[in-house]
Amino acid sequence: MDKLQESIKEYYGRTLGGRGDLQSGACCCSPDALSDEVKAVLPLIADEVMERFYGCGSPIPPLLDGAAVLDLGCGSGRDVYVAAKLVGERGRVVGVDMTQEQLDVARKYEDEQRARFGYERSNVTFLHGYIEDLGSLGIADASMDVVISNCVINLSTSKESVFREIHRVLKPGGELYFSDVFADRRIPDAPRTDPLLRGECLGGAMYTEDFRRVMQGVGFTDFRCLSVRGITIGNSEIEKKVGFANFTERTIRAFKLDGLEDICEDYGQVACYDGCIEGFPHYFDLDDHHRFYTGKPMLVCGNTASMLTDTRYAAAFSVMGDRSVHFGAFGCGAPGDAAVSAPLDGGSSCC
Ligand SMILES: C[S@@+](CC[C@H](N)C(=O)[O-])C[C@H]1O[C@@H](n2cnc3c(N)ncnc32)[C@H](O)[C@@H]1O
Repeated sequence: MDKLQESIKEYYGRTLGGRGDLQSGACCCSPDALSDEVKAVLPLIADEVMERFYGCGSPIPPLLDGAAVLDLGCGSGRDVYVAAKLVGERGRVVGVDMTQEQLDVARKYEDEQRARFGYERSNVTFLHGYIEDLGSLGIADASMDVVISNCVINLSTSKESVFREIHRVLKPGGELYFSDVFADRRIPDAPRTDPLLRGECLGGAMYTEDFRRVMQGVGFTDFRCLSVRGITIGNSEIEKKVGFANFTERTIRAFKLDGLEDICEDYGQVACYDGCIEGFPHYFDLDDHHRFYTGKPMLVCGNTASMLTDTRYAAAFSVMGDRSVHFGAFGCGAPGDAAVSAPLDGGSSCC
């Protein structure tokens, strides 16, 4: 374990006693981020678990019933327990964290949460270890339907290993859905290794373009951005050290799918949402620029069509057409155009 990881464990294990001890606005989740499904479960979560929630978003996707979910950097377990309710007794949730004190809080409430949810048996497991090496925790290849993570991957000293592991453990068609802190440039060494800045999720924030490169390198060829929120640091001492950069919290969705292309291609496919996803009767947002209105057919690129036919979202969509006839690029310009490699600020890797 490196010194930086040691300082992060110290920060989350001993320095912070609860949300009130945070020194900046980075690890704060806007109430707007919560879906109706999540809002309905939160009153069932133990107070101490809620008090030690340090997430920056709410990366809980819909359609979780019966799913196997993995939460990377689960901390005191808030999102594990929310997911445990949403997957139901047929599903299961695994939380991984490297900080013993955080896991102690999470485990303390396992039986109480089971009883609050009315389950006969607990459907959660907490594992003590590193998100860069899920294999040593016994998490098998292609074993998870959904991987979630809330304000954690920025803290990793080997982000590529984390995304590689996520890709390995997801089942084909499985979904990565996570919220994290990003920066509009690479953070220099001094602030990057400063224990306070690192602990506050600013020093290790991912530069959006490096994030895109890593994702594409490990096999997440087309990932989608759900939301972008500017972060106000709100601490003049911290701003002095990292005020040269702009930080954002983003929620990202990516699927483990073969055959995704590096730009959107037009095969004349059409998708229609049936309105049956819980909490989304009128429309469903696949990402920040694909809103599917219930019953309204929409022309989609080949990548989007795959995301709606070869994943669990197929239950809510009908997609017409296949890739047998190609009609050119899907309005994204030719390879090499700025739009093709649009930065996350432009929305996502999808045009
Ligand atoms: C900002 S907190 C978020 C915790 C939780 N996701 C939540 O929303 O409350 C970051 C958590 O990630 C854990 N963490 C950071 N780096 C890790 C790593 N490389 N492996 C496992 N856990 C890690 C820390 O121990 C800490 O509990």
